[in-house]
Amino acid sequence: MKVTILGAGAIAGAHAEALAALPAHGVDGVELTHVVDVDAGRAAELAARHGVPHHGTDLRALLDAGEVDAVHVCTPPAVHLEAALAALRAGVHVVVEKPAVLSLAEADALAAAEREAHAAGLTGRFTQIVQHRFGAGIPRLRRFLDDGTLGAAYVAQCDTLWFRTPAYFEVPWRGRFDTEGGGTTMGHGIHQFDLLLAVLGPWVEVRAMAGRLARRTDTEDVSTALVRFANGTMATITNSAISPRQTSRLRFDTEAATVELEHLYGYDDADWTVTPVEGREDVAEAWSADAARSDDDGASGHLAQLVPTYRALVEGRTPPVTVADTRDTLELAAAIYKSAFTDATVRAGEIVDGDPFHASMAGTGTPWPPVT
Ligand SMILES: NC(=O)c1ccc[n+]([C@@H]2O[C@H](COP(=O)([O-])OP(=O)(O)OC[C@H]3O[C@@H](n4cnc5c(N)ncnc54)[C@H](O)[C@@H]3O)[C@@H](O)[C@H]2O)c1
Repeated sequence: MKVTILGAGAIAGAHAEALAALPAHGVDGVELTHVVDVDAGRAAELAARHGVPHHGTDLRALLDAGEVDAVHVCTPPAVHLEAALAALRAGVHVVVEKPAVLSLAEADALAAAEREAHAAGLTGRFTQIVQHRFGAGIPRLRRFLDDGTLGAAYVAQCDTLWFRTPAYFEVPWRGRFDTEGGGTTMGHGIHQFDLLLAVLGPWVEVRAMAGRLARRTDTEDVSTALVRFANGTMATITNSAISPRQTSRLRFDTEAATVELEHLYGYDDADWTVTPVEGREDVAEAWSADAARSDDDGASGHLAQLVPTYRALVEGRTPPVTVADTRDTLELAAAIYKSAFTDATVRAGEIVDGDPFHASMAGTGTPWPPVT
């Protein structure tokens, strides 16, 4: 399988490294052959750093020449949809960085393109990078909830408290709804609240606030939300780009135990703690035993996701993260923006075609004036 990386910026190296490590994890026959960037120098530099044989500036030409079996889209978010559509229409798999697209309307266009390509007999599949779903602790937590070990889930907290300097927002595509999709909710917190959905399943209602407190951006630098899940769990979400002591934190209070994860940009089994209710020490023991059974440290990351993804693609199966998963997470983001900007409770399923928050996360507009 010949792979092209599109966009040779900050995150592209993580893709190149993970692709190179696939054979050591039992996935053979996947080769990074091309790096493409509008900036020829960046493409050349990434290719040289990772020993990639070809580099250039024109994805279209490679697709037309049949030189690509999978494209990894690592460009700024506004370019994701166009690149993903080009790949799917060429019958090529596409692995898109988060946020996959800018809006629910774009997610729907993506889903339609994948359906149409399959109806036309093409076999390319869409998947999105959500690398923190693939550390061992998240599927373990889901399994322990599904099989009753943890009992019912009651309360969850999801905090993405990061710190981004004013200089971070000087990159032209950052801090604008039309090019980044949103602020710290779409750009940072999305990793963590995606995990809430992976663990707790569908949500039913959201009440949220957002503010632009400190940075010169059009988008928010803080948002907070209260979320009720279909299984009854009540959750709080905080997304911040202006929190000096940075952390990424998840906490789940269930019938049998409190399960917590604290990390920054990636975790492994050592970052989890399980505090059982008195008399339910078996839960903590079962958690540790499950972690000890694995021959690795349960780390999240691009490699952890690309191993099962390429195993599926090579075998002609659907990859573990689908366009429907992507849409679900974007729907929660859209609901946070809609609730914050309209001062109303937003219910799952209500943001449909014709709703301003379907077309753009900015929806009816921010309560603060734009700066750009
Ligand atoms: N999964 C993660 O943990 C993670 C971390 C950081 C960034 N990201 C995401 O990765 C994406 C890229 O972020 P980044 O920080 O690497 O950005 P970046 O600005 O460092 O790099 C983007 C690259 O894309 C190139 N580019 C722009 N338009 C292009 C086009 N039309 N065709 C080809 N190349 C083009 C630019 O020249 C640049 O080299 C974003 O969606 C971001 O949110 C994900």
